[in-house]
Amino acid sequence: MAVRESVSRRDFLNRSVVVSGGALFTIGMAGCGSKSAPALSGTMDAGTDGGGAGSMEAPSDADYRKPVADLPELAAVGGVTRVQDSGYDFYLVRKSESEVIALENICTHAKCPTNYQADSSSFLCPCHRSQFDLDGNVSRGPANKPLNRFNAALANGVVSVVFS
Ligand code: FES
Repeated sequence: MAVRESVSRRDFLNRSVVVSGGALFTIGMAGCGSKSAPALSGTMDAGTDGGGAGSMEAPSDADYRKPVADLPELAAVGGVTRVQDSGYDFYLVRKSESEVIALENICTHAKCPTNYQADSSSFLCPCHRSQFDLDGNVSRGPANKPLNRFNAALANGVVSVVFS
């Protein structure tokens, strides 16, 4: 049984660097005292994978992997799809040709699952009407924390997510 551990938005951003080509690299945090995310490594070679992503390596210990071609909602930038896998409920959001983010679908107010609202490009919680933007940030309370982000990558045409 998987042990769930939240990764705060700050932790995720602290471990990630977006380089000029748009690829996302995760870097180690030696001495930071927090659990390190799996390292993403590789070189940029955008446009050669058929998926529109760079050719950096996907995390070898990803909990979820799927070819982006099998996720038609993510064909275009701004696309969103909901995934329920291995007991996890999350959204994948196509942020750019080379970036997909994964947002855990648990409202940070009182843990209700949200619903994607295509007309407003947001996630709406049916319990108390909190609303989150496509980056998971709160756009309307009562929630006051963003949706949890999982470590995600789009590499070689494959979306990978680590649930830790
Ligand atoms: S549980 Fe989502 S707004 Fe209260």
